[in-house]
Amino acid sequence: METKVFSKEEIADAAALIKAGEVVAFPTETVYGLGADATDPTAAEKVFQAKHRPADNPLIVTVADPAMVAKFATITPAAKQLMAAFWPGPLTIILPIIPGKLSMIVTGGLQTAAFRMPANALTRELITLAGRPIVGPSANLSGKPSGTRPAHVLHDFDGAIAGVLDDGPTQVGVESTVIDMTANPPAILRPGEITAAQLEPIIGPVQTDQHKVGANETPKAPGMKYKHYAPNAQVVIVDHPADWPLALQWAVKQSAPYGVLATDELLTQVPAAVPTYSLGEDLTSATHNLFAGLRWFDLHPTVKLILAEAFSPTGLGAAYMNRLNKSAGNTHFDRDTQ
Ligand code: TXA
Ligand code: MG
Repeated sequence: METKVFSKEEIADAAALIKAGEVVAFPTETVYGLGADATDPTAAEKVFQAKHRPADNPLIVTVADPAMVAKFATITPAAKQLMAAFWPGPLTIILPIIPGKLSMIVTGGLQTAAFRMPANALTRELITLAGRPIVGPSANLSGKPSGTRPAHVLHDFDGAIAGVLDDGPTQVGVESTVIDMTANPPAILRPGEITAAQLEPIIGPVQTDQHKVGANETPKAPGMKYKHYAPNAQVVIVDHPADWPLALQWAVKQSAPYGVLATDELLTQVPAAVPTYSLGEDLTSATHNLFAGLRWFDLHPTVKLILAEAFSPTGLGAAYMNRLNKSAGNTHFDRDTQ
């Protein structure tokens, strides 16, 4: 299959492919998604196949407006308040479904489904033109960093999906905050740009303890039990800025060549011959660049070890560190035991 890259002007062609049951990748403010008709189980099944995604990991239903949600799920009063406050935007809301309205393939057999109205106007137009919600898992092969640029989507899916709607790089860089409104109190299953501190004034206390979602328990967000965001090289997180000189000395002594993923100021400490990828200057740019950086090292296969910069895990830092920890399998540089 030839994968077509659609410009903004060609959006009607992309929508026609969605209507015809094909898979078209679409931009959002967070990461690119793999779109297909959410009301067509055969189309949704193609998304699982393209991603090599386990069948028990449900898909997000991406909508153009809250009215689209009402056809498939019960919008509780608190959920309505969240939609009013944060939609369109990077907040995915889990709601109880109206039985029989969504395919088991989309919901993974759950009685709930995740809904998201992205800030990207082009994608909302795509959904409106298609006249139906689209499934929207991140556009990456299962286990790999999510795609934040059309080139990432093509790297993973060229020849395997019908098209990509090109709107340049995404803005936030990590996926939406997922909040489970069927839990009491509501639970943040995945941290994102919208933080607990922003949600709580509207809906009261929320649970944020992701440790409850262990590999051996029934996971709250099925996707969280799987290996995620891992590049081919081993990522080692350097937590404290003061540890960088030691961490760099340690990395030189390892048998495998290393690279560094960090902000510009830290990169000034790194010898010129070492492959580096800049996270920019602060937490916002680091979050924007994180997945692109992890993917860049996969294109430089001589690097077997990546030293990566940590940020304080609060606010947007909670989302950044959640993804970085997963990509590293929670491996941190330890100045005492190295
Ligand atoms: O920013 C985003 O949310 C992107 C863009 C493309 O919209 N999409 C995205 O989708 O990250 P995905 O499928 O890669 O991640 C959705 C997460 C998964 O961890 C999945 O297990 C969880 O949400 N999820 C989906 N439906 C659920 C449900 N009914 N209950 C609990 N977790 C659910
Ligand atoms: Mg994903």
